[in-house]
Parts: sequence; C-alpha cells; structure tokens
Amino acid sequence: MGYTRVRRNKEQDNMENQATDASRPDRWSNKWIFILAATGSAVGLGNIWRFPYIAGENGGGAFVITYLVSVLLIGIPIMMSEVLLGREGRSSPITTMRRLIEFSKANRIWVLIGWVGVLTGFLILSYYEVIAGWALNYSVTYAGQLTGMIPVPEVDLSTGMGVAETQWNALLANPWELILFQTIFIAITVVAIGRGVKKGLEFINLWFMPSLFLLLLALLVYSILEGDMQAALTYMFKPDWSALGAGGAVAAMGQAFFTLSLGMGAIMVYGSYLPSEASIPRAVLSIATLDTLVAVVAGLIVFSIVFANGLEPAAGPGLLFISLSHAFHIMPNGLLFGMLFFSLVTVAALTSLISISEPALAWLVEEYNARRERVAITIGVVAWILGLGTIFSFNEWENMHIVGDLTFFDLLDQVTNEVLLPLGGLFIALFTGWVLPKEIAQRQLSMGNFSLQCWYLATRYLAPAGVLLVFAHSIYERLS
Ligand code: TRP
Repeated sequence: MGYTRVRRNKEQDNMENQATDASRPDRWSNKWIFILAATGSAVGLGNIWRFPYIAGENGGGAFVITYLVSVLLIGIPIMMSEVLLGREGRSSPITTMRRLIEFSKANRIWVLIGWVGVLTGFLILSYYEVIAGWALNYSVTYAGQLTGMIPVPEVDLSTGMGVAETQWNALLANPWELILFQTIFIAITVVAIGRGVKKGLEFINLWFMPSLFLLLLALLVYSILEGDMQAALTYMFKPDWSALGAGGAVAAMGQAFFTLSLGMGAIMVYGSYLPSEASIPRAVLSIATLDTLVAVVAGLIVFSIVFANGLEPAAGPGLLFISLSHAFHIMPNGLLFGMLFFSLVTVAALTSLISISEPALAWLVEEYNARRERVAITIGVVAWILGLGTIFSFNEWENMHIVGDLTFFDLLDQVTNEVLLPLGGLFIALFTGWVLPKEIAQRQLSMGNFSLQCWYLATRYLAPAGVLLVFAHSIYERLS
C-alpha cells in the first residue's frame, strides 16, 4: 500500500466538509470527543495509584515539580508527534510508520516504532487488567460492606493497619478471586473495543469520563472536609530538593510518559481517528492539562486523607490498597467514600485499558482484513493468558524469580516502563524531529513559526536527551 493512496485520502479528506469527515465510522464524531477519549486514556492507574505513591517515595514537592516540567518539555511535544503521525498515516501504528517511511524515503528500522508499540501494548494490557481488577474488587467489597451484605471488619487501632493488611494479603493470596476480576475487566474491554470507534470507544468515554470527574469532585470535597488539606498542599508543593536524588528525577520523567499514554502508539491510533480540521496543539494542551490536573487532585485527596490519619506518605504500591483503605475504615462515612474512591480508580482504569488494546487491534484488523469483534476476542484471550503470569506472581509463583529478584510481574512492569515506553518515545521524537519532512509537521500542526521551532527543539534535543538520561540511570542502577 503506497503513500499515494494516503495522499489521495488526504485530499478527499480536505474536500469533504467537516460533517462528512467526522461521520466516517473510523473517525471521532468531533474534536471534543477525541480530547475526552485521549484524556480517558491518559487518566488511569498512573494518576490515581502510581503518581501518589511514587511522589510519596520520592519526597513529594521536588518530585511533583520535576514531573510537571517533564510533562511540559518532553510529554507535550511527544504527544503532538504521536497525534500528527497518526493523523497523517490514518492507520495502525505499524502501517502508519510504513507509509511515512516510504514517503520520507527513510530507513525501515523506524517501523520498530509500530512493532514495539503493539508488543508493549500486550504486555501492559496483561498486568494493567489485573491491577484494575484489584480496584474493582475493592469497590465491590466496600459496596457490600456499605449495604451490610459483607460484614464490616472491626478495626483495632492497637494493631495499626493490621486489618487492612490482612484484607490485602488475602486478596493477593487468592488466585481465583484475582482471575475472576481480571476476567470481568477483560470482558468489558473486549466488548468495548469490539464495537468500534463510535459505538465502543466513544460510548465508553462519553459515559464514564463525566462520572470520573464527578467522583473526583465529590472526593475532593470529602478530603477538604475530613482530611488535612493544608498538610497535603505543603507536602506536594513545597520542594525539598535534597529528598529527590537522581533516581527520583528519572522516575518523574518515566511517570510523565506513562501517565500521558506515550511511547507505544496508543495516542497515535487515537490521532488517526481525529478529524482533519482539529488543531493538534490545542487538543494536546487540553489533554495534558486535564491529565495533570487529575493527577494533582488525586494526589491531594490521597495525601490529605493519609496525613489526617497519621499515616506514612512513602508507603509504596500499598499506599491505596492498605494505607488509604485503612483510613476509610476509621473515617466518618468512610465506607461510602471508600466505595466511591475505588470506583473512581476502576473507571479511570477502564478508559485507559481500551486505548492500550487499540494499536494491536487496529493492526490485526488491517493486516488480516478481520472483523473487529473477532480480533477483540483474540486480543482478550492472549492478554488473559499473559495476565495469569501477573496473578501468579503474587501467590503460586511468588518465589519464582525470572531475573535477579524480580517476579514475572516485576519484570513486566520494569521492562515496559523503564525500557519499552521510553524507547518508543525516543524513536517517535527522533523520527518526527529529524526524519519526517518538515512540510508534513507544519501542515499537521499548523502553528506559528516560533511555536514550531520550540517543538523542533523539544523533539530533536530535549526529549531524546531526557529519555537517554532515563536509560543511563537505569543501567547505572542495575550495575551498581
Ligand atoms: N496513561 C494511563 C495511566 O496513567 C495508562 C496508559 C493508557 C498507557 N494507555 C497507555 C500507558 C499507553 C502507556 C502507554 O494509567
């Protein structure tokens, strides 16, 4: 399939008016829905679960500021690159890259952006669905306790977080329960992506994103009334640079990639469905702002509750599932707001999951000319089987170390977040900065000359340098 065909489509695009472009089945109905869906992809476990605990582990304020700077200097430019590649290629990341390589007369190695993306998608999908399952399990448990269907545990403060810890350990030790919730999540994802862009992706985002914002607002009000917002604000915005260290700075950059869904073509596919007339820079700015806002608000909610109950901010991955859950069991209306909080995490995870599957789905549909429903089921089955590895990492295979002292899950988590996503981001930045003909970037981004130069500065130098720093650091850490 040659680039000429894309060109013809583009010209057709331009000739068609806005309404007909948006009415195609493989386009978002309008640019607002694209912003909503991309925000749905960006806002996920990364904002609500990962961001607070990583900020907590790295001393708060200084981490938050480094993260904000990374979003601005590296995240936003790379997101613009992904969207523009997607909208120019109008297909799955693999086919998009093939077309643009042909047009740019570039080396075929760049197709790796597409391949690595599809592979990374499967890997992330397989563990993300399991963690999302934890959140669903917690919201169901809280709902059960609230309605009296599940007995409410008696919290004995003399044993500290003993009850919350027992609940957490019991969940992780039970593979059947984990499989049940993983399966529910996969099933919903498969149905959503199988129904296509308009009936599936748009539908889910149109319903769930407004609920997400309402839940967030309700929890913010609750944490202002019942938490210690003053302490949370000080902790998150008063930088103590000595608490950061090189590792923390690198983690902040990695977090910027993960939270904006960058580096594996998810945003690229979403961009391929974007109507031609929408402004990419404006859309990207809105998405990044909303995503950052949600992360900051989620952080404030979590930390104000943590501090009001005298808990540790640096609790690691158990911050939500143990510390916060403990707090909800001793706070006024805690069961209700606990249920709302974990529903928020569940909803956020769902709208992210569908974007993680989309690059692989789009590619398989193109390559095998297959029906979306069938491909969706295939992806679901593969991800489900891979996901068993993550589930067993917490029980049956707990003591099986694949590399060093890493379990299967640890390995997946590190390989995707510390190697594959930054690598994808690096290639995407370099390709758009150095290889892609300037006229394409200019036409797709349609920005003023100054803004365009800033974007080139970021994609050519800043972003690659940032990513290389992440790599250098993790190699150094591994060796020392
Ligand atoms: N951004 C999501 C989060 O913060 C996760 C996510 C969705 C993602 N799609 C992605 C991460 C693509 C990397 C790549 O939870």
